[in-house]
This record gives sequence, C-alpha cells and structure tokens, in this order.
Amino acid sequence: MSFKIIGTGSYVPEKVVTNDDLAQMVETSDEWITQRVGVKTRHVSTGEGSADFAYYAAKNALEMSKTAAEELDLIIVATFTGDTLVPSVAGLLQRKLGAKCPAFDINSACSGFIFALDIASGYFARKAVQKVLVVGTEKLSKIVDWSDRNTCVIFGDGAGAAVLATGEHFLSSKIYTYGEDEVLYLPSFAGASPFDKTEHDAPYLFMDGQKTFKFAVNAITSNYTAAVAEAGVAIEDIDYFIPHQANIRIIQFASKRLNVPMEKFFVDIEKYGNTSAASVPMALDELNRSGKLKENDLIALAAFGGGLSSGACVIKW
Ligand code: UT7
Repeated sequence: MSFKIIGTGSYVPEKVVTNDDLAQMVETSDEWITQRVGVKTRHVSTGEGSADFAYYAAKNALEMSKTAAEELDLIIVATFTGDTLVPSVAGLLQRKLGAKCPAFDINSACSGFIFALDIASGYFARKAVQKVLVVGTEKLSKIVDWSDRNTCVIFGDGAGAAVLATGEHFLSSKIYTYGEDEVLYLPSFAGASPFDKTEHDAPYLFMDGQKTFKFAVNAITSNYTAAVAEAGVAIEDIDYFIPHQANIRIIQFASKRLNVPMEKFFVDIEKYGNTSAASVPMALDELNRSGKLKENDLIALAAFGGGLSSGACVIKW
C-alpha cells in the first residue's frame, strides 16, 4: 500500500531579483553566477512568509486534484524557514486551508520533500490515511547574509505541493543522514538566558560550497542508483529525473556519471535558484503543468543538503 500523486502546485513571491541586481550589492557578476551556478533570477519575499507560500502552492495542488481541504487526513510540511517555531507552518497552513487533520513540519533542509514523501508512504502503508498534502516551502531570503556572495547569489524563495491519494505508484524511496554541523550550518535563535555564557553565531546560513558540492555530486549519483535499483527498474527506464536545483553543474555531473542525457533532467534553476525543500516539488509541478508527463511515466526525484542529508525516490505517474 503506497500512494499516487493526484495534484501538484507551486508558488513564488512576485519580486524578482536579477544577477545584475546582486552585482550592485556584492562583488559578483551575471557571468560568474550564470556559469558557476546556473541561476539568472530568483524570487524574493517582500513580506509574505513560508506559510503564505505553502498556502498558495497547496491551493493549486488541491484544485488540480479536485480535493477539498476537509478531505485531507494529514498535512506534512518540509521547511527550515518557518515563520514561527511554534506553531508549525503545517499548523498555520491547516488553518488557512480550513483543514481539520493532523499537521506537522519536518526539517531535513533541502532534502525535506523527499523525506516527507517517505514519511507519508508509512501512513499509507498502515492504511491510516487516504489523502495527504505534502508541501516544501522556504523563505530563504530571511536567513541569507545578503553581504556574503558565497550564498546570497544562490538561493530563492518559494513553495511546491503535492496531493497524495491511495495507490501503488510510490515504487521506492531511499533517505540518508550524515550528521555534521560544519559544512552547512544555520544557528537558531539563541535566546537571552542570563545563565547561558556561550557565544552564539549570527543567525545566517553558512555553507562550505566546495565540500557541499562534492557531497552533492556523490549523493545524487548514488541515491538515484539505489532508488532505481530498489524500484526494480533500470536507469534507462526513467522518463524524467527531477533533481534538487542547487547548481546546474551538479546536475550535469549526475547526467555524465549516470550516463543519462541532460534532456531527461528537469531544470528550472535559472528562474528560481535554490529554493531548498521547495525545489523538487516546484520542479515537479512545472513539469506536470507542462503537459509532458504521461500515465505510467517513471520519474525519479532526488535532493541533498544540510544535515548532511540526501535522498531519492521513484514514482510512477
Ligand atoms: O542546497 C544545499 C546544497 N547546496 C549545494 O549543493 C551548493 C554546492 N556548492 C556550489 O554550488 C558551489 O560550490 C558554489 C556555487 C557555492 C561556489 O562555486 P565554486 O565554483 O565552488 O566556487 P569557489 O567557492 O571554488 O570559488 C571560486 C572563485 C573564488 O575566487 P578565487 O579564490 O578563485 O580568486 C571565489 O572567491 O570564485 C569566487 N567567488 C565568486 N566570484 C564572483 C565565489 N563566489 C563568487 C560570486 N561571484 N558570487
């Protein structure tokens, strides 16, 4: 007992920041960002929060799946940029949608959506649910140091959502965590306890780009290979690969190492940058809405990032 995806949705805030805009803020150039990362523009919030993005993406997905919010049995939101730690983004989303079901957040950074699908499949396996909403949403603009060119040129805001219903289309799932806090690191609110004598770092995202890059290239290749094997199919059988949109060069590496043509990889990084947990469901929605996906197509999702974490899964459309 697993699930099938019956609707997808996505949302990005209206404001677009171009590479040339960033070149006014830090020492960088459109040429460097385009060549080294593959991003041309990213969308950035001027006020909306992660729960707002999640709401618009979820509305689109519910509409496509012809599902009423009251029918949902569970809402899982993947994020590490919630508007509040309590309540969860999922709780805020439940209220905005008018749903009544249990709702909770999970944090596995950029791999969050893949982890959330894995969790959802467990609920389907024990027949506890019939309709589940899974969302990846991030307001990365609030945790990026806009004076740090190593990170501010990469990230963007947005959300993606999928409505899952009972079915046998989730063919495999592999998730991994390698606990560490030096390669990718975001301190949380340190509080102001009069008893706490430790020094706290500023609440901005730190990333060792090269170490993350190496991890990403290995993770995407090995995770795709493992998930495809577990699904009992061959790499050549996969119709579309939807990887985390972190860097075009990571996707090109995966294409080369897996011996899969780039045309099979869905890429939208040039428009949105890296939107962390929102990246894969946003890409899935765009591919779905393009009308290219046919019934029984095999799609392979993969993501990697903070944790360090990574994962991949194979879904029959
Ligand atoms: O979603 C979570 C997972 N995240 C990822 O997967 C990200 C993985 N990492 C990356 O995508 C890349 O490592 C980055 C895009 C972050 C950086 O690209 P890179 O090719 O690894 O650059 P680098 O750090 O090796 O720096 C190369 C050069 C340096 O100059 P020198 O020392 O060669 O003179 C940097 O100072 O590029 C310089 N540089 C920049 N130049 C212009 C670094 N950032 C910039 C910039 N604009 N924004």
